[in-house]
Amino acid sequence: MRAFTLDSFDSRPGLREDLPTPEVGPGQLLVRVRASSVNPVDAFIAGGVLKGMVEHEFPVVLGRDYAGVVEQAGLAVTGYAVGDEVFGFLPHAGPEVHDGTWAELILVSQDRSVARRPASADPAAAGAAPLAAITALAAYDALDLGKGATVLVVGASGGVGSFAVQLAAAAGATVLAPGCPKTTTTCAASGPPRSSTATATSPPRCVSATPTGSTPWPTSPPGRRTC
Ligand SMILES: NC(=O)c1ccc[n+]([C@@H]2O[C@H](COP(=O)([O-])OP(=O)(O)OC[C@H]3O[C@@H](n4cnc5c(N)ncnc54)[C@H](OP(=O)(O)O)[C@@H]3O)[C@@H](O)[C@H]2O)c1
Repeated sequence: MRAFTLDSFDSRPGLREDLPTPEVGPGQLLVRVRASSVNPVDAFIAGGVLKGMVEHEFPVVLGRDYAGVVEQAGLAVTGYAVGDEVFGFLPHAGPEVHDGTWAELILVSQDRSVARRPASADPAAAGAAPLAAITALAAYDALDLGKGATVLVVGASGGVGSFAVQLAAAAGATVLAPGCPKTTTTCAASGPPRSSTATATSPPRCVSATPTGSTPWPTSPPGRRTC
């Protein structure tokens, strides 16, 4: 089986073709991966940044998100069958850093880290959404936005920020999404999500990173960069 792995802290990540096909446990699904993503944590693991913080079991397969098709279902699996289109993510450690989704075949537990892929979501989108979306959801839940709230989303054009913008807009908040001119176009086009439960009344407000007299940007934003 092919997978993209980190084989030691002293080597660079690379493609291997000699990994054994994972054996399915009773409550597990064997999923053939069709799409995945690159999140900051993948770069951290690939660069050995978690060394000393979490145990690593080499070879470490990189990648967290996935979308794919169930190839085998364990004997105790009830909710999924061979051929089902699924998506989800693997935690970065379980408890060692070892499993990842940049592989042809992965094992997932039917009880967590897996859901059916809606027909309306294409595999590439489903294979990139989970971790960034869950991160944005966690932040959104923690904010507990009240009616009439105004939210500043820094990094609004990124994986996490693009979900945060949509969640806050759907909650009816005024969303300020500063970004470089090239990305404010993307932000303005994204608007509130097309969800049946969305209550958004206005699209997010996207402002350029170059402040003008009328933008709500502070006069001396810390760490401002040149676009
Ligand atoms: N993705 C995840 O699953 C996840 C999970 C947990 C935590 N996080 C953390 O959440 C943060 C965002 O992650 P992400 O996946 O959304 O990253 P990303 O897709 O690379 O997006 C990064 C965002 O930050 C903006 N940005 C980059 N440099 C900036 C600067 N100097 N000043 C202001 N804005 C800047 C980018 O704007 P431009 O597009 O204009 O460059 C972009 O909007 C990171 O700190 C990451 O470690 C991410």
